[in-house]
Amino acid sequence: MVQQTSFALITGCRSGIGTQLAICFAARGVTVLATARCVDHLQELTSQYKNIEAFPLELGDAGSIERLRDAVAIRTGGHLDFLVNNAGTHYAATAMDLELEEAVKVFQVNVFSVMRLCQLFIPLLRRSHRGRIVQIGSVTRDVPVVWQCAYNASKAALSQYTKTLRLELAPFNIDVIEIVTGFVRSNILHHGLVAPEGSFYLPIKEIIETMKYQGNKNGMETGTYARSVVEKLMSKRTHSEIWEGNMAWTIRFLVGFLPLWLLNWLYYRKFQLGRLRCAQKQRKGSATAHSTPDPDSRAKFSGFG
Ligand SMILES: NC(=O)c1ccc[n+]([C@@H]2O[C@H](COP(=O)([O-])OP(=O)(O)OC[C@H]3O[C@@H](n4cnc5c(N)ncnc54)[C@H](OP(=O)(O)O)[C@@H]3O)[C@@H](O)[C@H]2O)c1
Repeated sequence: MVQQTSFALITGCRSGIGTQLAICFAARGVTVLATARCVDHLQELTSQYKNIEAFPLELGDAGSIERLRDAVAIRTGGHLDFLVNNAGTHYAATAMDLELEEAVKVFQVNVFSVMRLCQLFIPLLRRSHRGRIVQIGSVTRDVPVVWQCAYNASKAALSQYTKTLRLELAPFNIDVIEIVTGFVRSNILHHGLVAPEGSFYLPIKEIIETMKYQGNKNGMETGTYARSVVEKLMSKRTHSEIWEGNMAWTIRFLVGFLPLWLLNWLYYRKFQLGRLRCAQKQRKGSATAHSTPDPDSRAKFSGFG
């Protein structure tokens, strides 16, 4: 019997987790269809591995997603074994200071483009004997890491979409797997933290910045993460959720067992939000001393705890 080639389509292979997932799938004999906004960015990868092929994909462009579906259908003869939605973008701004346009971009890349990719590739996955959709999610679906609410919300939306998709595709023998990712060393934070001049959050900006970059620096090495994930994805039976990356299992335990009031208390202390309460008191004190009411409604912020 002729063994059919296995194909894995992986988005966002220019860097980080995507590059390593491509290498790990390729090492296991899978033909990897790797995407990047510009195929030139994948030259090193495709020159090193003969079973990694490059395809262009810009997730903000609906036409680009459709062109990818057409190109993949031609290349694979109309079937696909793995669709790995890895590409993602980060935006670090607080709820009070975020630019709505930037939050929309985050949702476009992290959620809506994933919905469209799934929709377009389900017919190809159905032609595999066991198609698998893999979503690279995040522990921030459960943990309200401050200064990145839009990103957290996008990963929570992705997670709930994934849970629904899993049920809807069960009758068609397509597995839908969420990789609940902890800290992994990568360049995801390259946009830095956004804070406009006069932001009420400036007193903790440096603390949060250090925490985020330190978390990333101490994260799991991308190769180790990818090897573990691909090994689980290639096995005959796999779990609906795979928790991987630094702190993933600790977080799973904490959010699974601690009551919300205690989690909130821990987060409040961890992110040192109490400093904002002090800063606000000082601001109010000096405003009273000078008898000049603060015209900015944002001065009403009271925090919690
Ligand atoms: N690193 C972590 O600790 C961590 C934790 C939880 C979840 N994750 C998730 O893991 C996934 C991979 O992230 P990473 O850590 O490996 O970071 P990364 O190195 O920044 O990789 C993100 C990839 O997505 C691509 N991408 C972003 N916007 C795109 C768009 N509009 N169109 C096409 N491609 C786009 C990027 O391409 P360009 O380089 O061209 O922008 C890049 O290749 C993301 O979904 C992220 O949310 C990461």
